[in-house]
Formats: sequence, C-alpha cells, structure tokens
Amino acid sequence: MVLIFIEKQAKDVETMEPVRLAEYEHLARQALPKMAYDYIAGGAEDEVTLGENEAAFQRLKLRPRVLVDVSRVDASTRILGQRVEFPVLLAPIAIQCLAHPEGEQATARAAASAGTIMVLSTMSTFSMEEVAQVSDGPRWFQLYCYRDRKVTQGFVERAHSHGYSAICMTVDTPYLGRRERDIRNRFQYPSNIVLKNFVGHVDLAAIPSDIHGSAVAAYAASLLSPSLTWDDVDWLCSLTSLPIVLKGILTAEDARLAVEHGVKGIIVSNHGGRQLDGVPATIEALPEIVEVVQGRAEVLLDGGVRRGTDVLKALALGAKAVLIGRPYIWGLAVDGEAGVKRVLAMLRAEFELAMALAGYRSVSEINSNLVVRACG
Ligand code: FNR
Ligand code: LAC
Repeated sequence: MVLIFIEKQAKDVETMEPVRLAEYEHLARQALPKMAYDYIAGGAEDEVTLGENEAAFQRLKLRPRVLVDVSRVDASTRILGQRVEFPVLLAPIAIQCLAHPEGEQATARAAASAGTIMVLSTMSTFSMEEVAQVSDGPRWFQLYCYRDRKVTQGFVERAHSHGYSAICMTVDTPYLGRRERDIRNRFQYPSNIVLKNFVGHVDLAAIPSDIHGSAVAAYAASLLSPSLTWDDVDWLCSLTSLPIVLKGILTAEDARLAVEHGVKGIIVSNHGGRQLDGVPATIEALPEIVEVVQGRAEVLLDGGVRRGTDVLKALALGAKAVLIGRPYIWGLAVDGEAGVKRVLAMLRAEFELAMALAGYRSVSEINSNLVVRACG
C-alpha cells in the first residue's frame, strides 16, 4: 500500500507542472545525460559547502511584522544603477548548451523578458556577440582572466562594445576545484560544444582532452591564470570604464581590499560549492563583508538560493540582490527559454509573497530586524 503510494507520488512529479524550483531539478535529472547532470549539480570533494549553502538559509529564521498594508508590494530595485524588476540575477554558468541547444541565447531572452540581468560566462557556448544579437536586456560579462593578457583585454573590449554593462571578474578559480563526479564520469564535452568566445583567439584544439579525468579541469588548467593578484584588478580597472565586480569573495579582509582597489561590486560566492570545499555557506559569510564594505560597493550573494524567503534573508543581511545558478539551468534543461522564464517567475512570486507576509512593501525597507541572527 505504502509502496503504491510512493510510486504514484513519483509519477505525479514526472508529469505535473513544477510548483517549486526543486522540482525542476528532478525533471532536469531525468532529461539530461548523467555526465551533464553531474557536472551541473556537483560540487568539490565531499560537497559539504554545496549542502551548507542551502542548509544555512533554512537555519535562519524570519521575524515578520503584521498589520502593515501590503496590498501593494514592489520588488524592484537598482543594481549598479540598472533597474531590475526583482533582486534576482542570473549567475554566470559555463557551457549552457549542455543543458539545452539554445543555451545562453535562451537564457538571455528569458532574463530580458523577466526584467533582470544575465551574467554571461567567459566559457559560454554562444559567443558574447551571438548573445547580444538576441537580447537587448541588461547583461554583464563574467571574466576569467587568461594567461595571455591580450586575450583578456580583447574580451573586455568586445564586452564593452556589445552592450555588457559590467565586468564580473571571478577570483576564486586559480585552478578548478576537485569535482569527483566529473573525475568518476571522465567528463568530456560533447563534440558539438565549442567555447565560442575563444574561437580565433586561442587554439582550443591544442588543449589536452582531460586532466585527472575531467575535460573542464583540463581547460581551466590550460587557460586560467593561477598567478592573478590585486595588481591584475588594478590593471583591469585601468583598462575599462565599465564597473568591475569581483565574484568569489568570502572574507572581510578581501572585501576591504576590493573596495580599496576601486571595485564597484562584490559577489559573496563560493562558486556554488565547486571550488574550496569546507568554506562557509555564503549567507554565513555575508554579514562580515557587508559590515566592512559600509556601502562603498554593492554587495551581492549567490549560492543555495532556492526560495523567495532565501532572497528575503539575503537582503535582510545586507545583500543588494542575489544570483541563482543551478535553478535556472534546470529550467533551461527542461523547457529552454520558457523553463528559465518560469523559474524566474516562480521565484519572483515567492519573493513578493514573502515580502508581504513579512510586512515589507519595498526592497528598500528590508533590514536586519527581519532575521534572527545566529549566536556569534
Ligand atoms: C558555475 N559557476 C560559474 N561561475 C563563474 O564565475 N563562471 C562560470 O563559468 C561558472 N560556471 C558554472 C557552471 C556550473 C554548471 C555551475 C553549477 C556553476 C558558479 C555560478 O556562477 C554560481 O556562483 C553558483 O552556481 C551559485 O550557486 P547555486 O545558485 O548554483 O547554488
Ligand atoms: C565551473 C567553471 C567553469 O564551475 O566555472 O564549472
């Protein structure tokens, strides 16, 4: 009897329209080859940080106010001067054609129609020009600095001239983290996958097809510069008038340096638990960073955001906005552009309802009284 019930439940999940983000992951897992699913879902080593990102949100409790007129709730805000309809951006995710043939172009169209910012990965499967062609929505370019500075400079110039309005420099990836699912699966790019931003600039064919069993690790080892320092941040700032956002800051010490080096934004991120396992959940790292930055740069956060209440908690602890990674890729895998749109619409609706139930009518009202802080 119980078994029949469980089987029926599992079947219902397969056929029904998802009502929460987590159900998209379930559907994506059925839709994708195991190697692709594992690459996207996985984290580094024991995946402790990966799990913590979500668990830490659940440990935080909310303190709602009542008898506030919430008949109108406004979730819009401004990020680096750009209006977004709600404070959720799309994090840079590499090789999106693994999830769906329309890849980053579908994501860009969905972000534009939802009124939010897409951050395009350097390691995208459509080039930054091809993405710009299909979307006039707000876009940032995520920069991996390459061993060859000329290539890096070329990326920045192309991004500027194709309407990307900020450079998001990822700083937590001198090498790729040890992702054991990819090693076990001997992760390889399907033959139709090309990292288009590099074509004509780097000889991708010369890169070994794997290192320790993983093709992404091989690419990272060949292309990413492990010798970056704050001097490179200065160099980047001198290169462009676009605002620089550093992604992958986890400590007050580095946040202070970031501000001193003139960056306009900081993304508190542990790369979705894919780099150094054992670092804290991003929502736990956020407060010390907000405290030291003191409004001198905009602080954003990503990692483990799965609910409208998670967005609320991050804003209460001082983030200006959050980014989501895997959830929209699950939407993309299941239903292309429509899937990404639906994921964004679900999260926006949850966030607006959470704001209303907590007694907050606008994003600017959200403050630290809204969460119960853990001891310490
Ligand atoms: C990433 N992330 C990432 N970050 C980055 O700066 N450049 C990149 O190319 C990628 N690629 C990438 C691929 C995949 C499959 C994943 C899952 C993640 C990290 C990403 O931007 C973001 O920090 C995390 O995904 C946020 O965590 P959640 O929302 O996935 O929990
Ligand atoms: C990843 C890289 C490419 O996390 O950022 O897979």
